[in-house]
Amino acid sequence: MRFRPDLGWADVTPRADFINRRQLMSGAAALAGIGLGLPAAALDAAPSRYSTDEEKNTLEQISGYCNFYEFGTGKEDPARNAGQMTTDPWSVKIDGLVEKPGTYDLADLVKGQPLEERIYRLRCVEAWSMVVPWIGFQLSGLLDRVGVKPSAKYVAFETLYRPDEMPGTRRPVIPWPYVEGLRLDEAMNPLTILATGLYGEELPNPNGAPVRLVVPWKYGFKSIKSIVRITLVDEQPPATWNIVNPREYGFYSNVNPEVDHPRWSQASERRVGGGFFAAKIPTQKFNGYGEYVAGLYDGMDLTKHF
Ligand code: MTE
Repeated sequence: MRFRPDLGWADVTPRADFINRRQLMSGAAALAGIGLGLPAAALDAAPSRYSTDEEKNTLEQISGYCNFYEFGTGKEDPARNAGQMTTDPWSVKIDGLVEKPGTYDLADLVKGQPLEERIYRLRCVEAWSMVVPWIGFQLSGLLDRVGVKPSAKYVAFETLYRPDEMPGTRRPVIPWPYVEGLRLDEAMNPLTILATGLYGEELPNPNGAPVRLVVPWKYGFKSIKSIVRITLVDEQPPATWNIVNPREYGFYSNVNPEVDHPRWSQASERRVGGGFFAAKIPTQKFNGYGEYVAGLYDGMDLTKHF
């Protein structure tokens, strides 16, 4: 089904189904798979201590205002075009410096990983932000399962590249496929998740279905969508925006109000949906997650490693 950002879940979900799901939600700690039969969304995910209690953006805002250049560079292009992307079957190749390399079917990838709701702030490098109720699991759980070799220092990620379903990739706007990377300790941090759902449902295509990275203390472009490959490596891997313009986009890209983008200030942000006249919000260092992640960068000059 093509995604319609003007519709809420209650509109696109048959009512019987919807009610059924609400009833399921009252079941104690029940996790249920929907749609493909995957445990893609947790209908009763436990609240997480890492969640913010700030007001959430609506599903319409989260899935209607996106950056997903594979489907076009306009904010509404992903909602218009990402419905073309086939997400079933889906597999993720895990290779490089791991004990158990292989091509994992999505259901297998998610298997055994405790799904949680994580309500995170998302701060885009373009100085807008949202509050998003992701459903996902810690990347650390998956990395533990595949067994990271001691020589691994970084994790590299790659997005699906399928020009016949991704109209944006038919032009060389940025190099394809989209790639990103994290230092291993960043990848293992409990805040770093692989998201498979949103608002208790499967992840909508515009947001990077069926599985995308979420690293809430970094600018949004580090949170790579629709992942098909995860590679453990011993050197800093390439990252798309850093390749495109290393002067403007560093490898680390931690949210930092003290380091401006060469073309605009990063001191404040506009919350999507706040309205044209809403006051800008001051941007927080590490997007407000410093208590969990500041230690990762002890001794580093964050103006140099921006
Ligand atoms: N991943 C891929 N593959 N392609 C993209 O264009 N855009 C990034 C990131 N992940 C992008 C991507 C940017 S710039 C941001 S801000 C976030 O996705 C936006 O996520 P959202 O659209 O779900 O809010």
